[in-house]
Amino acid sequence: MKDLMTRRGFVRAATAGSAVLVGLSGGRTAPAKAASADQPALLGGTPVHQGGWPKWPEWKQSWEPEVLDVLRSGTWCCSGGGGQVAQFEEGYAKLLGAKRCVAMASGTTSLITSMHVAGVDAGDEVITSPYTFIATYNTILMLRALPVFADTDPATLTMDPASIESRITDRTRAIMPVHIYGMPCDMDPINAIAKKHNLAVVEDACQAWLADYKGNKCGTLGDLGCFSFQNSKHLPVGDGGAIVGNDDALMDRCQSFHNCGRSFGNYRGSGCFSRGSNFRMNHYQAAILSQQFDKLVQETKIRQANADYLTAELKKIPGIEPVRLPENSRAVWHLYAFRYDPGQFNGLPRDKFRKALGAEGIPNGSGYSEQYFDGLLDEAIASRGFQRLFPAERLKQYRESLKDLPGNKQVCETTVAIFHSLLLADRSDIDDIVEAIRRIHAHSAALV
Ligand SMILES: Cc1ncc(COP(=O)(O)O)c(C=O)c1O
Repeated sequence: MKDLMTRRGFVRAATAGSAVLVGLSGGRTAPAKAASADQPALLGGTPVHQGGWPKWPEWKQSWEPEVLDVLRSGTWCCSGGGGQVAQFEEGYAKLLGAKRCVAMASGTTSLITSMHVAGVDAGDEVITSPYTFIATYNTILMLRALPVFADTDPATLTMDPASIESRITDRTRAIMPVHIYGMPCDMDPINAIAKKHNLAVVEDACQAWLADYKGNKCGTLGDLGCFSFQNSKHLPVGDGGAIVGNDDALMDRCQSFHNCGRSFGNYRGSGCFSRGSNFRMNHYQAAILSQQFDKLVQETKIRQANADYLTAELKKIPGIEPVRLPENSRAVWHLYAFRYDPGQFNGLPRDKFRKALGAEGIPNGSGYSEQYFDGLLDEAIASRGFQRLFPAERLKQYRESLKDLPGNKQVCETTVAIFHSLLLADRSDIDDIVEAIRRIHAHSAALV
């Protein structure tokens, strides 16, 4: 097994019950509990957890008639507005307390559109988080702008606001906070910095449907907020996305850009085109998504209750540090992450800890790696376009600055993460997660 499993690889393993991990069966079958031979499973004991975990994604038969209606209507695409897509946009905006929503083809296209509309152009810089899915980096690069990384706060796993200002240059145009794993960034200081320096704020809320920061939903806290409805997400449809916002002028421009640049609302005169692309969602996707709103709300509550319980229990185990959230905020836990300190486990390396946890029937991943060293950024800044757009000295400095992310390095080396569908299990299954970690802690000397 590759040590640093990619998130989607991990999702596949967690939901398909990959033999690579622990030979789990994917769906919930026999609820039988292990006989409590206290020996770690990796050393021949019986796994703490047996019987699999909830599968993801799930669907209901009751959704089928609406999808069939779309199929039989022959109107599948939404270039002219209306229909299921418009209903979805209205419903999703309402769910988040946003004025407007544009349904999109993906989270990626939502981020590209939002940044373009917010004024990010070739040769600009965008300050974002290094601890994120690679799409965040890529969307900035697609606009031929430079993703400049704020450091990650090891306590929160999100962008450390204190590290932003020193990274602002005269090319900086926007800040893109990422509410990673569904955990809200500390938006008050981020918005204050943006205001002071006249920067746009585009939230990458692609993993944060219904996450809450001081009474407002993530995605509604900056100028524009972007969501993903990809297969693994809490509101899944295969591929899909959305932009939400409260500013009519910006939202008109998002509508226009995602529909081949056709004029919309007050943006450009009727019949005029502007730059744009085809980033639309289809009606049958919207029909599937709208029918999941109640499910999303209910499941979010279950995940939150189980995560609260898990956090309270894991705090009691030395060497396990649950994530700290900003004051007055609620995460939605796309992944439940904690930091692992081998020093409290007799030096048991994280990868061995993860293997032992997997053997106990708890599928887990290691989160994101220091992916800025993986070659993507080198390739981008060596390209003809970037070489033309940025002075050589700036690109050299930029490459050097990637080494100055100590908080993020720590996070990449110490995080362990559990996929959200495990948080939909019964409380006794959550107890198994705790028990498995306690067992590994008790036997860590033998496991090293
Ligand atoms: C943080 C983050 N940003 C952006 C994206 C891109 O979304 P999509 O896969 O829908 O294009 C994702 C999706 O996984 C994500 O997790």
